[in-house]
Amino acid sequence: PAATILAGKKVLVTAGGTREPIDPVRYIGNRSSGKMGYALAVKAAQMAAKVVLIAGPTSLPDPPGVCVKKVETAAQMRQAVLAEYDDSDLVIKAAAVADYRPQLASPQKIKKSEEQLTLTLEKNPDILRELGAKKTHQFLVGFAAETENLLEYATEKLQKKNLDMLVANDVTLPGAGFNADTNIVKLLYRDGHREELPQMTKIELAEKILAKICEHISK
Ligand code: C5P
Repeated sequence: PAATILAGKKVLVTAGGTREPIDPVRYIGNRSSGKMGYALAVKAAQMAAKVVLIAGPTSLPDPPGVCVKKVETAAQMRQAVLAEYDDSDLVIKAAAVADYRPQLASPQKIKKSEEQLTLTLEKNPDILRELGAKKTHQFLVGFAAETENLLEYATEKLQKKNLDMLVANDVTLPGAGFNADTNIVKLLYRDGHREELPQMTKIELAEKILAKICEHISK
């Protein structure tokens, strides 16, 4: 039966947002709560998978039965994810990784003086794209949060990042996206198949996503 397919498998989940330091007391962050990724980790553990959760800063407690590794920056998340990737069977990247970081993190607190302050940002590596490029046997799942052209952008990401499945959500809908307890998503698959899911809690959605993954792995 589909629900037992993950038993004994190594499942790698990322969750939460990253923080990119500006100086010792400030950072650039985002509104990710970590709830979706934590729910996935909890449900995968309940399905008897060996779960490693790589999480940015969140207020959520470590889920029982899950190996939790906390990171702050995208660079740290990349290191942690790459160290766990090769022997993972399923990888779900629910984290909201910062696309850019301040080019220089000031070693001292930046003092206020001028009327304007310019921060130069440089691009962070796209961890998921790197995973897609070196994929061997892993089933690779990404998330996409969009505010417009949801299906178009999502389809492009699925292909560019070499994913097996993409969970796409329009974060402008009420009851969806960052910090909400519920979500409304569309699932896109490598073979072009798509399905729309109704609004549900992130816990229910985690269960649904894992059930769908099991269906596809067993095909
Ligand atoms: O391209 P975009 O950031 O919208 O893609 C989102 C997906 O890519 C998520 O699964 C996210 O975890 C992953 N990602 C990543 N590294 C980045 C940016 C996004 O792994 N630097």
